[in-house]
Amino acid sequence: MGEGNGTAWAGALSPAARYAETGGASLTWENLTAVLPGSGGRPTKKLLQGLYGYAVPGRIVAIMGPSGSGKSTLLDSLSGRLARNVLQTGKVLLNGKKRRLDFGAVAYVTQENVLLGTLTVRETVTYSAQLRLPSSMSKAEVRRVVDDTLDEMGLRECAERPIGTWHLRGISGGEKKRLCIALEILTRPRLLFLDEPTSGLDSASAFSVIETLRTLAIDGGRTIVSSVHQPSSEVFALFDDLCLLSSGESVYFGDAKLAPQFFAETGFPCPSRRNPSDHFLRCVNSDFDDVATALKGSMKLRAEADLDPLLKYSTTEIRERLVDKYRISDYAMMVRNTIHEISKIEGVMEEAVKGSQATWCKQLRTLTKRSYINMYRDFGYYRLRIIIYVLMAICLGTIYYDVGNGYTAIQARASCGGFVSGFMTFMSIGGFPSFIEEMKVFSLERQNGHYGVAAYIISNFLSSMPFLLTMSWASASITYWMVKFRPGFSYFAFFALNLYGGVSVIESLMMIISALVPNFLMGLILGAGVIVILQPIFSSSIYVFHHLARAFWCLTGSMLAFCRGS
Ligand SMILES: Nc1ncnc2c1ncn2[C@@H]1O[C@H](COP(=O)(O)OP(=O)(O)OP(=O)(O)O)[C@@H](O)[C@H]1O
Ligand SMILES: [Mg+2]
Repeated sequence: MGEGNGTAWAGALSPAARYAETGGASLTWENLTAVLPGSGGRPTKKLLQGLYGYAVPGRIVAIMGPSGSGKSTLLDSLSGRLARNVLQTGKVLLNGKKRRLDFGAVAYVTQENVLLGTLTVRETVTYSAQLRLPSSMSKAEVRRVVDDTLDEMGLRECAERPIGTWHLRGISGGEKKRLCIALEILTRPRLLFLDEPTSGLDSASAFSVIETLRTLAIDGGRTIVSSVHQPSSEVFALFDDLCLLSSGESVYFGDAKLAPQFFAETGFPCPSRRNPSDHFLRCVNSDFDDVATALKGSMKLRAEADLDPLLKYSTTEIRERLVDKYRISDYAMMVRNTIHEISKIEGVMEEAVKGSQATWCKQLRTLTKRSYINMYRDFGYYRLRIIIYVLMAICLGTIYYDVGNGYTAIQARASCGGFVSGFMTFMSIGGFPSFIEEMKVFSLERQNGHYGVAAYIISNFLSSMPFLLTMSWASASITYWMVKFRPGFSYFAFFALNLYGGVSVIESLMMIISALVPNFLMGLILGAGVIVILQPIFSSSIYVFHHLARAFWCLTGSMLAFCRGS
């Protein structure tokens, strides 16, 4: 590395010294490997191969690489969210100690925007703040935090607009991305992971997002690790450290400003008028081989081939040279020394802060309110289904209208009852698409430690109760009145509550299925199958228990009577 080595931290604190000074969250990873074990004839796949690196307070680490190079996998393994089918080895240390980083210890902005489309931007941020900020904070204080965050992420203008659903055009993709970031920086986490926060944004918005993150890192002493796809030169200049990956291997890790120097030393200097990040990706992305082949006949390219070293070698050769050179370079040595130094420093050992500081009751209240508003505003969630239930009840009423009390009406009454309890409860399956959307939000918030499973389940039960009661009460009243079932309020109430119970059970079952199989088609097929199979099983088991119970009580009763009598 020569001269660059000595000047690497000139005029600035070295990462280890910065960490020692601020005492924030410092993350190091050594020999980090992630392997997908082979199965069914497929070979074992190495997703990450012996990576070394660090992330220290006040600096942003950019993870770059072609698509499929392992950027998200690296973020997942650092934040303890790797899929269960992937095996991870190596050391990931937070402030020199091994910790669990999932369920709220760190903030994570995923690649996908997962939001409740019926809420406005302000409502989304406010509910998130109420779910996580300490319950002791007053309403005015929470409002101020929300306003500050909206300002910081440039969301003030669209604050009152809904996010958008299938029937409601909402905010733009870039605004959604900024909202997802706003939700995570709301509580000012010490360690923040972001997966491609600038994808889908124009260069000005991308710049403003990364600049906000940089301010957060420098002013607040936060540690930020972010994957990024093809940044502009202005955005690239905002990153402090660079982790360049190719097929899970480290091509470069270190100060972003020294990366052009490393490429030049390896024989692939960045042309003066090329964006450095474009050049790095051009060197390691094998797709460019196809581009070069396609352009082979071009005169211009032939003329350039003598000047540009990249055109003399295939990308595989360039990649291998870079990986081999980096492994034995001073840059790699410096990374290991820095990791060693960071591990030696006695930093402020903060206990991992949970994702939420609100009380359980506050979480339950907020979740119930948020869920109720979502159910009310989403036309397909319950409102459409209530209309269909009422129409169904009218149809059923006309078929069995005033069925009478005669001997022949017995069968008609039974089939009408069967139709109500079988078909109408089965129709609850219609809520499945909305459940999947809500379940995605729950999974993400749960992983980020915003609240627990119990608060979510109870809030969902409470918020859906008014809709389910309306649904079952309305259809039961219409059918009961039109068919002219046995008069008397208690009989009617039993009929309506029976329908409510059936609908609730199917709703809960579909909720479980949406958690297990979060796919629209598969979930519907599985749900329908389970209901059709479970109905006869339960009815027959109740029948068997009923007879068992009779045998038990009759026998016990006769024995008692016999003993008493004797
Ligand atoms: N749980 C998993 N099971 C199977 N394969 C996986 C798993 N996780 C990651 N992979 C594979 O690892 C490779 C890297 O995936 P990853 O999502 O990390 O890429 P990426 O660099 O984030 O790509 P992109 O820029 O497109 O988001 C891919 O080939 C992917 O299929
Ligand atoms: Mg990714």
